[in-house]
Amino acid sequence: MTDAFVQIVDVSKTFGGDRNMAEHVHVIDDVSMTIGTGEFMVYLGPSGCGKTTLMRIVGGLETKSEGQVLLGGEPVTGPDRRKGMVFQAYTSFPWLTVFENVKFGTKYRTDVSGAEKDDIARHYLELVGLTRFADFYVNRISGGMRQRVAIARTLAAGPEILLMDEPFGALDAQTREYLQVELRRISRIENKTVIFVTHDVEEALFLADRIVIFSSRPARIVEEVDVKGILPEERDADTKETEIFFRLRNHVRDVMRAQMRAEGMNA
Ligand SMILES: Nc1ncnc2c1ncn2[C@@H]1O[C@H](COP(=O)(O)OP(=O)(O)OP(=O)(O)O)[C@@H](O)[C@H]1O
Ligand SMILES: [Mg+2]
Repeated sequence: MTDAFVQIVDVSKTFGGDRNMAEHVHVIDDVSMTIGTGEFMVYLGPSGCGKTTLMRIVGGLETKSEGQVLLGGEPVTGPDRRKGMVFQAYTSFPWLTVFENVKFGTKYRTDVSGAEKDDIARHYLELVGLTRFADFYVNRISGGMRQRVAIARTLAAGPEILLMDEPFGALDAQTREYLQVELRRISRIENKTVIFVTHDVEEALFLADRIVIFSSRPARIVEEVDVKGILPEERDADTKETEIFFRLRNHVRDVMRAQMRAEGMNA
């Protein structure tokens, strides 16, 4: 890895007081990792293990109990424009058009002029393939399109890192596959550092440069999978049909199942 953009050092999180209190929930246990600039990192792990919590800590939306999180060498102190977040629920403004929604992302930028903001909005609309729908109100477009609007708006804000928490979780299988291909392409073009949370092993493998698999709660790192070193850089829908992809998928599934068994779930 070249330069580490995200540094997570010995991070632990306990909700509800310190970890000796009866009502505490110990969610993250001593997690450390670095993520390189432009790297696509995927978090996989059993439901409720603490993935969202860790991502919210990186995004500055949640405090940590112990440890350090640095972005570009600086400690995270709260949310700001440097961190762009996309969630499962569609977060767009129904009373604005597609173009206006994307342009909204530039609203608080002070590094560009008003005219440049229009250009930026047009650029990201084009990148997500929605130029034709610029004047549609978002309540008139599909869920998959709305999620593309959310991604374009987030990118238009000029973030240094994209934090995506199951952004395709509410979409049908075809739309989901299509957006996986698009997101992989966009992340390469923009060389964005991404942390992406998903339950879906195939989605994780298809998108990732690297996968971190967490244990059930409290989340500890069980395994790291260097996908970049195994799958080709250029990926399309056919990548999922290759033998190496099957083998990787089976391996990751086995690790996930072992975690769920450890937790006493039927897997
Ligand atoms: N504000 C909070 N106060 C107390 N407990 C919380 C809080 N937020 C999350 N938790 C608990 O922390 C644990 C981890 O939650 P988190 O949402 O991070 O898991 P997750 O891995 O994202 O799960 P999922 O895959 O289902 O989205 C859960 O048991 C949850 O109930
Ligand atoms: Mg979650």
